[in-house]
Amino acid sequence: MTLAFAIRLAEASDLEALTEMVAADPHGTWTRASLEHELTLAWSHMVVAVDSQGVVAGFMVYWHTAGEVELLNIATSPTFMRQGVARTLMAHLLEAATRLGAPRVMLEVRAGNLPARSLYDSLGFVVVGTRKGYYAGEDALLMDRAAPAAGGTPSESGR
Ligand SMILES: CC(C)(COP(=O)(O)OP(=O)(O)OC[C@H]1O[C@@H](n2cnc3c(N)ncnc32)[C@H](O)[C@@H]1OP(=O)(O)O)[C@@H](O)C(=O)NCCC(=O)NCCS
Repeated sequence: MTLAFAIRLAEASDLEALTEMVAADPHGTWTRASLEHELTLAWSHMVVAVDSQGVVAGFMVYWHTAGEVELLNIATSPTFMRQGVARTLMAHLLEAATRLGAPRVMLEVRAGNLPARSLYDSLGFVVVGTRKGYYAGEDALLMDRAAPAAGGTPSESGR
């Protein structure tokens, strides 16, 4: 089931909900302190996806630095999984990259994170490198894709 979610900038008042979200991921390393730190960085963009009632369903952090856009984290609240939250956030990320003039979007994913890999594969990201044993012995995959052409759709890979 895919519902409509709106994207807005994260605020300090979202930190409690976001902390619960990162704590729900057994492989995650982020904490409330990491989230708070991101809010202080000029190059860091933290956005949340909210449902029609304003409930925070997911969030994403990406960096725009040295002309590049990199996804740092994305997570959906356990109660909103498989409803299109991450897909909505990723569409926002790709649109942001185009708007910011970044040629490519990069990210890193744990090799065994099949839900996330399926999401990134479906959006045209491809593996461009591996960091052996980066996540507690498990490989990290570096993935990227071209930002969509201005006026195009986020699903267009543009490779
Ligand atoms: C990965 C994650 C963000 C997906 O969030 P979501 O809102 O449930 O995803 P969506 O509903 O938007 O689904 C988009 C696509 O992701 C993939 N996907 C999501 N959950 C999946 C699952 N359990 N198994 C397989 N594929 C899955 C599918 O390709 C899906 O497309 P489809 O529904 O058309 O099949 C979520 O599982 C999560 O928060 N995981 C923990 C944090 C994490 O691993 N973040 C990634 C860090 S790199």
